[in-house]
Amino acid sequence: MKVLVFDTAEALAQRCADEFSALLRTKTTPVLGLATGASPVPTYKALIERYTAGEISFRNVTTFNLDEYCELPRNDKNSYYTFMHENLFDHVDIKEENVHILNGNAPDFEAEAKSYEADIRAAGGIDLQLLGIGTNGHIGFNEPDVKFTKSTFVVELSQSTVNSNSIYFENSVMPKHAITMGIGSIMAAKKVLLIATGQKKAEAIRACVRGDITPACPASILQFHPDVTFFLDRDAAKLL
Ligand code: F6R
Repeated sequence: MKVLVFDTAEALAQRCADEFSALLRTKTTPVLGLATGASPVPTYKALIERYTAGEISFRNVTTFNLDEYCELPRNDKNSYYTFMHENLFDHVDIKEENVHILNGNAPDFEAEAKSYEADIRAAGGIDLQLLGIGTNGHIGFNEPDVKFTKSTFVVELSQSTVNSNSIYFENSVMPKHAITMGIGSIMAAKKVLLIATGQKKAEAIRACVRGDITPACPASILQFHPDVTFFLDRDAAKLL
């Protein structure tokens, strides 16, 4: 496990973008696992700048997003489909057919989960998985629980997640369920990068990096991952 601590959000984003650039330059068909939320936005911005400068291309990239809200129209301003297009995909040369985002309106969630896992396998597995972390230690939408989850499934969001994310739902009601890759799906990625910034993430980072490995802090399982790097600012790292 590597822990990198940065003085500025910009330095963190550039170093994290370096990891993506290195993969995109060396692998013919890179497979990325992507996250939404505030944490990855500066990194996506850095990647867009590098694409615009002609340094990298997403032409042969395949992506799989971690999660999506259930029963939110795909084009809702708060859907993760919209988020990813606004914050990355619309600004680079990725092919829409290579973008995979879970369907939160699927008629059969079990079938949706199965076919998502099959698509990841068919793509050769995830080379680089980007993660944020919830203040409760969730990764993807794997909420604190009594067991670790295996593969993609539908989850009831915890009160902590509803509190954190309902700020984005100004005039609408935040969904109570989401479909998310499981802990097993995340752990299968060849390389994992986790970004956390701000004091409100400090306790989750302490529990995840230094605490017991327990489904009560889902991110703590990353201690078992053979290639994981934490990208932290000083506030998020302050309890380490
Ligand atoms: C988002 C996701 C979540 C977020 C986490 C942190 O796709 O899977 O686990 O990474 O909730 O969110 P932010 O970055 O907004 O603090």
